[in-house]
Amino acid sequence: MSRVLNVAVVGCGIGRSHIVEGYLPNADKFKVLALCDLNPERLDQVGEEFGIERRIVNFDELLAMDDIDIIDVCTPPGAHFSMVTEALKAGKHVVCEKPLVGSLEDVDAIIEAEKSAKGKLMPVFQYRFGNGIEQAKTIIDAGIAGKPYCGTVETMWRREAPYYTVPWRGKWKTELGGVLMGHAIHPHDIFTYLMGDIAKVFGRVATRVNPIEVEDTISASLEMKSGALASFTATLGSVDEITRIRLQFENVTIESDHAPYNPGKELWKILPRNDEVKARIDEALANWQHVPSRFQTQMARFHDAIFGKGELPVTSADSRRALELVTAFYHSSSTHSEVALPLGPDHPLYQSWVPAEFR
Ligand SMILES: NC(=O)c1ccc[n+]([C@@H]2O[C@H](COP(=O)([O-])OP(=O)(O)OC[C@H]3O[C@@H](n4cnc5c(N)ncnc54)[C@H](O)[C@@H]3O)[C@@H](O)[C@H]2O)c1
Repeated sequence: MSRVLNVAVVGCGIGRSHIVEGYLPNADKFKVLALCDLNPERLDQVGEEFGIERRIVNFDELLAMDDIDIIDVCTPPGAHFSMVTEALKAGKHVVCEKPLVGSLEDVDAIIEAEKSAKGKLMPVFQYRFGNGIEQAKTIIDAGIAGKPYCGTVETMWRREAPYYTVPWRGKWKTELGGVLMGHAIHPHDIFTYLMGDIAKVFGRVATRVNPIEVEDTISASLEMKSGALASFTATLGSVDEITRIRLQFENVTIESDHAPYNPGKELWKILPRNDEVKARIDEALANWQHVPSRFQTQMARFHDAIFGKGELPVTSADSRRALELVTAFYHSSSTHSEVALPLGPDHPLYQSWVPAEFR
């Protein structure tokens, strides 16, 4: 039987957006019962804004609270692994912001821990949800698009000095990577969600925009498992901000909306090759039901999955795929070589992609 689940949000930065976009619009499914943050001012500010009385500074206290069903981890990346494993061990369901963890070794350990856990784990990839992306996915999955030829992903965003005044950002040890790992991870996830697994990567990373340790500009040439080709480019130094994903299939050209932080929401440009393809697309989308974008749908589907009404909308396997690309990309860039996927424990960066001098 379905019921309202009690949530504890840990970290009041993006955690606030989880409340606004994810939990409040799904008030029949979730109640935010507790907030946790090391910063008492932020804790009070967000607690007052949403009338959340239970405010905790020490994460471990949450684990012992029997009335908390879900722990939503929205802390900086370096804290994710221990919080997720502890929360699973305590029998809680877990939501965790990207990046789920900071290495393939850690993601494999989490996948192992999930096998015996009582609760379910859902990493965040909120850009996957909305009418535009889901219509594209429906057309591709129905086999209408046909053979994939090639595609491009452009993540053209902007970050300036104030962004890096938050101490954990821009540093290998705490952010674990730059635009590749922390920003373009969303559009790259969309690409593989729609086009399938990557087989080979030749990537380059550079720091060109801000005086930071991690990269802020990247580019790669990729070969997909299907044989299709792709190129990914991203920077945090763009004057205007867009996210653009363009996919070329045998029967259809698909181009995302360009809204940088919500490319899935508005309808995408879908160009059928001929009238017959158009008729098949019209038929596939004939009874389309509106899909709210981002966290609203991701959280609603998490609730459904917990009560056996569907699959988890994002899984730790999806996180692994994203982190495998990150690992391959850094390795390719530092060795000036092509990297073939999948990557396992024998890969030199399996334990960490962070350069040794910054660990
Ligand atoms: N999905 C997205 O679009 C998106 C957007 C922004 C950030 N993020 C991710 O969300 C995470 C947080 O980013 P942010 O921008 O909100 O950072 P932030 O610095 O604004 O907020 C993080 C909060 O966590 C608190 N915190 C740190 N360690 C803690 C601990 N041990 N216990 C309790 N609280 C702790 C900090 O005090 C801070 O208030 C990162 O992993 C980031 O990559 C995702």
